[in-house]
Amino acid sequence: MKILVIGSGGREHAIITSLKKSPKITEIHSTPGNAGIAETATCHNVKATDIDGIIKLAKELNIDSGEAGMRAEALGIVFVAPDDPLVLGMVDELNKAGFKTMGPRKNAAILEGSKVFSKSFMKRHNIPTAAYKAFTDPEKAITYIKSQSSYPTVIKCDGLALGKGVIIANNLIEAEAAVNSMLLDNKFGDSGKEIVIEEYLDGMEVTVLAFTDGITVKTMPASTDHKRALDNDEGLNTGGMGVVANVPYYTDEIASECMEKIFLPTIRGMAQENRPFKGCIYFGLMLTSKGAKVIEYNCRFGDPETQAILPLLETDLLDIIEAIWEERLADLEITFSDEKSACVVMASGGYPEKYETGYKITGLDEITDVYIYHAGTKTENGELVTAGGRVLGITAVADDLKTALDKAYEAVEKIQFKNAHYRTDIGRKALL
Ligand code: AMP
Ligand code: GLY
Repeated sequence: MKILVIGSGGREHAIITSLKKSPKITEIHSTPGNAGIAETATCHNVKATDIDGIIKLAKELNIDSGEAGMRAEALGIVFVAPDDPLVLGMVDELNKAGFKTMGPRKNAAILEGSKVFSKSFMKRHNIPTAAYKAFTDPEKAITYIKSQSSYPTVIKCDGLALGKGVIIANNLIEAEAAVNSMLLDNKFGDSGKEIVIEEYLDGMEVTVLAFTDGITVKTMPASTDHKRALDNDEGLNTGGMGVVANVPYYTDEIASECMEKIFLPTIRGMAQENRPFKGCIYFGLMLTSKGAKVIEYNCRFGDPETQAILPLLETDLLDIIEAIWEERLADLEITFSDEKSACVVMASGGYPEKYETGYKITGLDEITDVYIYHAGTKTENGELVTAGGRVLGITAVADDLKTALDKAYEAVEKIQFKNAHYRTDIGRKALL
């Protein structure tokens, strides 16, 4: 079977590395991909949000390209990995064109695409989350913040904003600036035309990814991302600077509470509302003193979480994808290793703000025993160079977290590119 994976980050490289192990897959294609993905998959030049372009590509890949009498394999699945094409409805269009897919349709991807939708959905289904109100009028929003007079307070754009649409304001001045940047100055475009103001939640943050066919939900090992750019959770929010998986503070007791109060009500609630969610759902949770609460849903695999989690997956990823498509996930046993894993992201200095690219990456040949996932890389004149904010994700797996972290950092220290930046405290809290 041929498979096409949409996207170009470390997440997609981890997905493709996992799919490569499936004996049923004969060819992996990716668009647009990156230099690391190109070592395993055939990369194409269509942007991840170009729905028409991707349907055209899928049709081309589906054509019998074999020699006479040697029919080439048909395109089995199109795996839509990033948020933007999912929220835009790429899966719906691919299905209409006759292709099988991995990823939710537009009416389910809205769980990530609109915070106003997801907050009201949680309210309707009694799913624990931060108290909130939604606003389109800046004056009303500021009056509400004054009436609450509780800081920090959290101000979020309704729509997708590359992980930057959440502002944690420590006082009224910061809160007013945040509201005005979204509702008055249009800093986030249409994504910030409506905002959510919500209660600040205190606790350990955990990501739980789960496979779901819209009926059954099967969770993956819990992990913790490190979203701030600098050590000690300082600096700006980023897409994610590192992850540890199989974290000790997500106990079996918390896991069953989350299953009962959050995961099942979410999947059932979406089905009841005629928005069956098929694919991978991302639960961003805060483990508060009053129980686990949802910070956010994403409609896809997390990045970099996937880079720490898929190396632990023992079941064939293609079997899971097929079971989701055919809505028979309940019948499939999915197993993960109990080992711990750690992923350290190497970024371009300056990320998530302005950064330079085009710098030569060296040292990769000296590294063994870790996964090297490419994100912002490309090949230029035969050399591997930086091409994005997050450049590489280095994942190590071991029986204990300390060894996994030591292995990952040992590898990171051998890799060089100009202005390379990484956090030196990934997983520190999980070791305490
Ligand atoms: P989001 O894009 O919703 O994941 O928010 C980005 C980050 O902001 C989260 O990973 C949390 O660290 C933080 N955050 C979001 N909402 C809250 C909240 N209600 N209380 C505390 N922190 C939050
Ligand atoms: N790691 C955060 C995200 O994927 O949104």
